[in-house]
Amino acid sequence: MSKFASTLAAWQRRHGRRDLPWQGTRDPYRIWLSEVMLQQTQVAAVIPYYQRFLDKYPTVEALAAAQEDDVLRLWSGLGYYARGRNLLLAAREVARRGAFPNTPESIGELPGIGRSTAAAIAVFAFSRRAAILDGNVKRVLSRVFAAEGDEELWRLARRLLPRQDLETYTQALMDLGATVCARKPKCEACPVASRCIARKHGRIHELPSPRARRVLPTRRATWFVFVHDRAILLERRPSRGLWGGLWTFPETRVLRSRAGTKLPIIEHGFTHFRLLARPLVHRLRKRVESPGRLWLDLADAVHAAVPTPVRKLLLSL
Ligand code: ADE
Repeated sequence: MSKFASTLAAWQRRHGRRDLPWQGTRDPYRIWLSEVMLQQTQVAAVIPYYQRFLDKYPTVEALAAAQEDDVLRLWSGLGYYARGRNLLLAAREVARRGAFPNTPESIGELPGIGRSTAAAIAVFAFSRRAAILDGNVKRVLSRVFAAEGDEELWRLARRLLPRQDLETYTQALMDLGATVCARKPKCEACPVASRCIARKHGRIHELPSPRARRVLPTRRATWFVFVHDRAILLERRPSRGLWGGLWTFPETRVLRSRAGTKLPIIEHGFTHFRLLARPLVHRLRKRVESPGRLWLDLADAVHAAVPTPVRKLLLSL
Protein backbone atom coordinates (compact mmCIF):
# COMPACT_ATOMS: atom_id res chain seq x y z
CA MET A 1 0.00 0.00 0.00
CA SER A 2 1.27 3.51 -0.70
CA LYS A 3 2.53 5.38 2.35
CA PHE A 4 -0.04 8.04 1.53
CA ALA A 5 -2.94 5.57 1.72
CA SER A 6 -1.77 3.88 4.92
CA THR A 7 -1.16 7.23 6.63
CA LEU A 8 -4.62 8.43 5.68
CA ALA A 9 -6.33 5.25 6.81
CA ALA A 10 -4.54 5.39 10.15
CA TRP A 11 -5.57 9.03 10.55
CA GLN A 12 -9.17 8.13 9.74
CA ARG A 13 -9.29 5.49 12.45
CA ARG A 14 -8.21 8.06 15.05
CA HIS A 15 -9.65 11.35 13.82
CA GLY A 16 -12.17 10.72 11.09
CA ARG A 17 -15.92 11.21 11.33
CA ARG A 18 -17.46 7.90 12.35
CA ASP A 19 -20.92 8.75 13.56
CA LEU A 20 -22.56 10.00 10.37
CA PRO A 21 -25.98 8.40 9.85
CA TRP A 22 -25.01 6.80 6.52
CA GLN A 23 -21.94 5.12 7.99
CA GLY A 24 -22.27 1.62 9.42
CA THR A 25 -24.68 0.51 6.71
CA ARG A 26 -24.05 -1.47 3.54
CA ASP A 27 -27.50 -0.77 2.17
CA PRO A 28 -26.83 0.64 -1.33
CA TYR A 29 -30.07 2.63 -1.22
CA ARG A 30 -29.05 4.49 1.92
CA ILE A 31 -25.51 5.03 0.70
CA TRP A 32 -26.68 6.25 -2.70
CA LEU A 33 -29.14 8.66 -1.08
CA SER A 34 -26.42 10.09 1.17
CA GLU A 35 -23.91 10.49 -1.65
CA VAL A 36 -26.42 12.30 -3.86
CA MET A 37 -27.41 14.64 -1.03
CA LEU A 38 -23.74 15.27 -0.21
CA GLN A 39 -22.86 16.16 -3.82
CA GLN A 40 -23.26 19.89 -3.39
CA THR A 41 -24.28 20.18 0.23
CA GLN A 42 -22.39 20.02 3.51
CA VAL A 43 -22.78 17.21 6.00
CA ALA A 44 -24.54 19.27 8.68
CA ALA A 45 -27.20 20.49 6.25
CA VAL A 46 -27.73 17.01 4.80
CA ILE A 47 -28.34 15.08 8.04
CA PRO A 48 -31.94 16.22 8.81
CA TYR A 49 -32.96 15.85 5.15
CA TYR A 50 -31.45 12.40 5.00
CA GLN A 51 -33.36 11.28 8.07
CA ARG A 52 -36.69 12.73 6.94
CA PHE A 53 -36.23 11.15 3.54
CA LEU A 54 -35.59 7.69 4.98
CA ASP A 55 -38.53 7.99 7.38
CA LYS A 56 -40.81 8.59 4.44
CA TYR A 57 -39.08 6.33 1.88
CA PRO A 58 -37.24 3.57 3.79
CA THR A 59 -36.57 1.48 0.68
CA VAL A 60 -35.85 2.05 -2.98
CA GLU A 61 -39.23 0.45 -3.79
CA ALA A 62 -41.01 2.97 -1.55
CA LEU A 63 -39.22 5.82 -3.30
CA ALA A 64 -39.94 4.35 -6.74
CA ALA A 65 -43.66 4.50 -5.96
CA ALA A 66 -43.55 8.16 -4.90
CA GLN A 67 -44.96 11.18 -6.70
CA GLU A 68 -42.41 13.72 -7.94
CA ASP A 69 -44.15 16.53 -6.10
CA ASP A 70 -43.81 14.71 -2.75
CA VAL A 71 -40.12 14.00 -3.38
CA LEU A 72 -39.45 17.64 -4.26
CA ARG A 73 -41.32 18.75 -1.15
CA LEU A 74 -38.93 16.70 0.97
CA TRP A 75 -36.00 18.06 -1.04
CA SER A 76 -37.22 21.64 -0.70
CA GLY A 77 -34.46 23.84 0.74
CA LEU A 78 -31.61 21.52 -0.19
CA GLY A 79 -31.14 23.13 -3.62
CA TYR A 80 -29.99 21.64 -6.94
CA TYR A 81 -33.40 20.09 -7.50
CA ALA A 82 -32.31 18.06 -10.52
CA ARG A 83 -30.79 15.78 -7.88
CA GLY A 84 -34.24 15.09 -6.42
CA ARG A 85 -35.83 14.50 -9.81
CA ASN A 86 -33.01 12.19 -10.91
CA LEU A 87 -33.17 10.33 -7.62
CA LEU A 88 -36.75 9.38 -8.35
CA LEU A 89 -35.93 8.35 -11.94
CA ALA A 90 -33.05 6.22 -10.70
CA ALA A 91 -35.20 4.61 -7.98
CA ARG A 92 -37.75 3.60 -10.60
CA GLU A 93 -34.99 2.16 -12.76
CA VAL A 94 -33.56 0.14 -9.86
CA ALA A 95 -37.03 -1.09 -8.85
CA ARG A 96 -37.70 -2.12 -12.45
CA ARG A 97 -34.45 -4.10 -12.60
CA GLY A 98 -35.09 -5.60 -9.19
CA ALA A 99 -31.57 -4.97 -7.88
CA PHE A 100 -29.14 -2.15 -7.32
CA PRO A 101 -26.21 -2.17 -9.80
CA ASN A 102 -22.98 -3.08 -8.02
CA THR A 103 -20.06 -1.95 -10.17
CA PRO A 104 -18.84 1.65 -10.54
CA GLU A 105 -19.59 1.54 -14.28
CA SER A 106 -23.16 0.26 -13.93
CA ILE A 107 -23.93 2.54 -10.97
CA GLY A 108 -22.71 5.46 -13.08
CA GLU A 109 -25.40 4.71 -15.67
CA LEU A 110 -28.18 5.69 -13.28
CA PRO A 111 -29.56 9.22 -13.72
CA GLY A 112 -27.77 11.88 -11.67
CA ILE A 113 -24.74 9.80 -10.73
CA GLY A 114 -21.37 10.99 -11.99
CA ARG A 115 -18.08 9.13 -12.00
CA SER A 116 -16.99 10.08 -8.49
CA THR A 117 -20.38 9.47 -6.86
CA ALA A 118 -20.63 6.08 -8.59
CA ALA A 119 -17.21 5.16 -7.22
CA ALA A 120 -18.12 6.26 -3.68
CA ILE A 121 -21.28 4.13 -3.72
CA ALA A 122 -19.37 1.16 -5.14
CA VAL A 123 -16.77 1.47 -2.38
CA PHE A 124 -19.12 1.97 0.57
CA ALA A 125 -21.86 -0.47 -0.47
CA PHE A 126 -19.90 -3.15 -2.32
CA SER A 127 -16.22 -2.72 -1.25
CA ARG A 128 -15.22 -2.21 -4.87
CA ARG A 129 -11.80 -0.81 -5.68
CA ALA A 130 -12.68 2.51 -7.30
CA ALA A 131 -11.27 6.02 -7.12
CA ILE A 132 -13.28 9.08 -6.09
CA LEU A 133 -12.45 12.63 -7.12
CA ASP A 134 -14.90 15.22 -5.83
CA GLY A 135 -14.08 18.84 -5.09
CA ASN A 136 -12.67 18.07 -1.65
CA VAL A 137 -10.47 15.25 -2.90
CA LYS A 138 -9.19 17.36 -5.78
CA ARG A 139 -8.00 19.89 -3.25
CA VAL A 140 -6.14 17.27 -1.21
CA LEU A 141 -4.43 15.58 -4.13
CA SER A 142 -3.55 18.74 -5.99
CA ARG A 143 -1.86 20.12 -2.90
CA VAL A 144 -0.10 17.04 -1.58
CA PHE A 145 1.23 16.07 -5.02
CA ALA A 146 1.23 19.48 -6.76
CA ALA A 147 -0.92 17.88 -9.45
CA GLU A 148 -3.17 19.83 -11.76
CA GLY A 149 -5.89 19.12 -14.26
CA ASP A 150 -8.62 16.49 -14.14
CA GLU A 151 -6.74 13.92 -16.18
CA GLU A 152 -3.67 13.97 -13.98
CA LEU A 153 -5.76 14.03 -10.81
CA TRP A 154 -7.85 11.01 -11.87
CA ARG A 155 -4.68 9.09 -12.75
CA LEU A 156 -3.21 9.93 -9.37
CA ALA A 157 -6.43 9.02 -7.54
CA ARG A 158 -6.40 5.57 -9.17
CA ARG A 159 -2.70 4.99 -8.57
CA LEU A 160 -2.96 5.77 -4.86
CA LEU A 161 -5.75 3.27 -4.16
CA PRO A 162 -4.82 0.73 -1.50
CA ARG A 163 -5.45 -2.99 -2.08
CA GLN A 164 -7.83 -3.37 0.84
CA ASP A 165 -10.12 -1.48 3.20
CA LEU A 166 -11.10 0.97 0.51
CA GLU A 167 -13.90 2.19 2.78
CA THR A 168 -11.59 3.62 5.41
CA TYR A 169 -9.23 5.15 2.88
CA THR A 170 -12.06 6.72 0.85
CA GLN A 171 -13.76 8.16 3.90
CA ALA A 172 -10.36 9.51 5.02
CA LEU A 173 -9.89 11.37 1.75
CA MET A 174 -13.36 12.88 2.01
CA ASP A 175 -12.95 13.86 5.65
CA LEU A 176 -9.46 15.25 5.22
CA GLY A 177 -10.68 17.43 2.35
CA ALA A 178 -13.75 18.59 4.24
CA THR A 179 -12.25 19.26 7.65
CA VAL A 180 -8.45 19.77 7.35
CA CYS A 181 -7.39 20.45 3.77
CA ALA A 182 -10.15 23.01 3.43
CA ARG A 183 -9.95 26.21 1.45
CA LYS A 184 -8.37 27.64 4.59
CA PRO A 185 -6.30 24.60 5.52
CA LYS A 186 -5.35 23.47 9.01
CA CYS A 187 -1.94 22.06 8.06
CA GLU A 188 -0.96 21.60 11.72
CA ALA A 189 -3.67 18.90 11.96
CA CYS A 190 -2.81 17.19 8.68
CA PRO A 191 -1.27 13.71 8.75
CA VAL A 192 0.46 14.21 5.39
CA ALA A 193 1.68 17.79 5.93
CA SER A 194 5.32 16.72 6.05
CA ARG A 195 5.12 15.38 2.49
CA CYS A 196 2.79 18.01 1.06
CA ILE A 197 4.49 19.60 -1.95
CA ALA A 198 2.27 22.67 -2.01
CA ARG A 199 3.11 23.33 1.62
CA LYS A 200 6.83 22.83 1.06
CA HIS A 201 6.82 25.39 -1.75
CA GLY A 202 4.42 27.84 -0.12
CA ARG A 203 1.79 27.16 -2.77
CA ILE A 204 -1.10 26.07 -0.54
CA HIS A 205 -3.24 28.98 -1.66
CA GLU A 206 -2.34 28.53 -5.33
CA LEU A 207 -3.48 24.92 -5.46
CA PRO A 208 -5.81 23.82 -6.79
CA SER A 209 -5.41 26.71 -9.20
CA PRO A 210 -8.59 28.73 -8.99
CA ARG A 211 -10.76 28.59 -12.05
CA ALA A 212 -10.84 31.94 -13.75
CA ARG A 213 -13.51 33.83 -11.89
CA ARG A 214 -16.32 34.36 -14.31
CA VAL A 215 -18.60 37.32 -13.92
CA LEU A 216 -22.00 35.70 -13.62
CA PRO A 217 -24.74 37.05 -15.86
CA THR A 218 -27.76 38.50 -14.12
CA ARG A 219 -31.33 37.43 -14.81
CA ARG A 220 -34.14 39.68 -13.77
CA ALA A 221 -37.70 38.76 -13.02
CA THR A 222 -40.85 40.16 -11.52
CA TRP A 223 -42.70 37.84 -9.15
CA PHE A 224 -46.43 38.38 -8.86
CA VAL A 225 -47.53 37.72 -5.32
CA PHE A 226 -51.30 37.42 -5.56
CA VAL A 227 -52.88 37.40 -2.11
CA HIS A 228 -56.45 36.70 -1.11
CA ASP A 229 -57.20 36.46 2.62
CA ARG A 230 -54.36 34.28 3.89
CA ALA A 231 -53.91 32.43 0.60
CA ILE A 232 -51.40 32.99 -2.20
CA LEU A 233 -51.22 31.84 -5.79
CA LEU A 234 -48.36 29.55 -6.85
CA GLU A 235 -47.59 27.91 -10.16
CA ARG A 236 -45.64 24.79 -10.94
CA ARG A 237 -42.50 25.26 -13.05
CA PRO A 238 -42.19 23.02 -16.11
CA SER A 239 -40.42 19.85 -15.13
CA ARG A 240 -36.99 20.65 -16.64
CA GLY A 241 -34.73 23.47 -15.57
CA LEU A 242 -33.29 24.63 -12.28
CA TRP A 243 -36.50 24.85 -10.34
CA GLY A 244 -38.35 22.37 -12.56
CA GLY A 245 -41.27 20.74 -10.74
CA LEU A 246 -41.15 23.28 -7.91
CA TRP A 247 -43.86 25.78 -7.02
CA THR A 248 -43.03 29.45 -7.46
CA PHE A 249 -44.81 32.75 -8.00
CA PRO A 250 -46.08 33.57 -11.47
CA GLU A 251 -43.33 35.67 -13.03
CA THR A 252 -42.23 37.70 -16.01
CA ARG A 253 -38.62 37.91 -17.09
CA VAL A 254 -38.30 41.66 -16.80
CA LEU A 255 -38.02 43.89 -13.76
CA ARG A 256 -41.28 45.75 -13.78
CA SER A 257 -42.68 47.88 -11.06
CA ARG A 258 -45.99 49.23 -12.14
CA ALA A 259 -49.05 48.16 -10.18
CA GLY A 260 -48.82 46.40 -6.84
CA THR A 261 -46.88 46.89 -3.67
CA LYS A 262 -43.16 46.54 -4.17
CA LEU A 263 -41.22 44.35 -1.76
CA PRO A 264 -37.42 44.47 -1.58
CA ILE A 265 -35.56 42.79 -4.45
CA ILE A 266 -34.52 39.22 -3.79
CA GLU A 267 -31.11 38.06 -4.89
CA HIS A 268 -30.31 34.40 -5.38
CA GLY A 269 -27.08 32.91 -6.69
CA PHE A 270 -27.19 29.91 -9.03
CA THR A 271 -24.08 28.24 -10.42
CA HIS A 272 -24.41 29.96 -13.79
CA PHE A 273 -26.24 33.19 -13.08
CA ARG A 274 -27.50 35.57 -10.46
CA LEU A 275 -31.23 36.09 -10.12
CA LEU A 276 -32.71 39.44 -9.14
CA ALA A 277 -36.43 39.14 -8.49
CA ARG A 278 -38.77 41.99 -7.63
CA PRO A 279 -41.85 40.78 -5.75
CA LEU A 280 -45.00 42.79 -6.40
CA VAL A 281 -47.90 42.13 -4.04
CA HIS A 282 -51.42 42.32 -5.41
CA ARG A 283 -54.26 41.88 -2.96
CA LEU A 284 -57.22 40.44 -4.83
CA ARG A 285 -60.89 40.61 -3.92
CA LYS A 286 -61.54 37.16 -5.30
CA ARG A 287 -59.50 34.12 -6.24
CA VAL A 288 -58.95 33.91 -9.96
CA GLU A 289 -58.26 30.31 -10.96
CA SER A 290 -56.07 29.36 -13.92
CA PRO A 291 -54.59 26.10 -15.20
CA GLY A 292 -51.32 25.01 -13.58
CA ARG A 293 -51.83 27.46 -10.73
CA LEU A 294 -52.98 26.78 -7.23
CA TRP A 295 -54.25 28.86 -4.34
CA LEU A 296 -52.62 27.70 -1.13
CA ASP A 297 -53.01 28.85 2.44
CA LEU A 298 -49.79 30.55 3.49
CA ALA A 299 -49.37 28.01 6.28
CA ASP A 300 -49.43 25.18 3.72
CA ALA A 301 -47.45 27.00 1.06
CA VAL A 302 -44.33 27.24 3.23
CA HIS A 303 -44.34 23.41 3.44
CA ALA A 304 -44.90 22.89 -0.27
CA ALA A 305 -42.17 22.02 -2.81
CA VAL A 306 -40.87 25.58 -3.06
CA PRO A 307 -37.30 26.85 -3.49
CA THR A 308 -35.69 28.63 -0.54
CA PRO A 309 -36.08 32.25 -1.78
CA VAL A 310 -39.79 31.63 -2.29
CA ARG A 311 -40.16 30.14 1.18
CA LYS A 312 -38.34 33.11 2.72
CA LEU A 313 -40.66 35.50 0.98
CA LEU A 314 -43.73 33.51 2.03
CA LEU A 315 -42.57 33.62 5.63
CA SER A 316 -42.24 37.39 5.43
CA LEU A 317 -45.80 37.97 4.23
N1 ADE B 1 -19.06 13.95 0.98
C1 ADE B 1 -19.42 13.12 -0.02
N2 ADE B 1 -19.60 11.88 0.44
C2 ADE B 1 -19.38 11.91 1.77
C3 ADE B 1 -19.43 10.94 2.81
N3 ADE B 1 -19.76 9.69 2.55
N4 ADE B 1 -19.15 11.33 4.06
C4 ADE B 1 -18.84 12.61 4.31
N5 ADE B 1 -18.76 13.56 3.39
C5 ADE B 1 -19.04 13.22 2.13
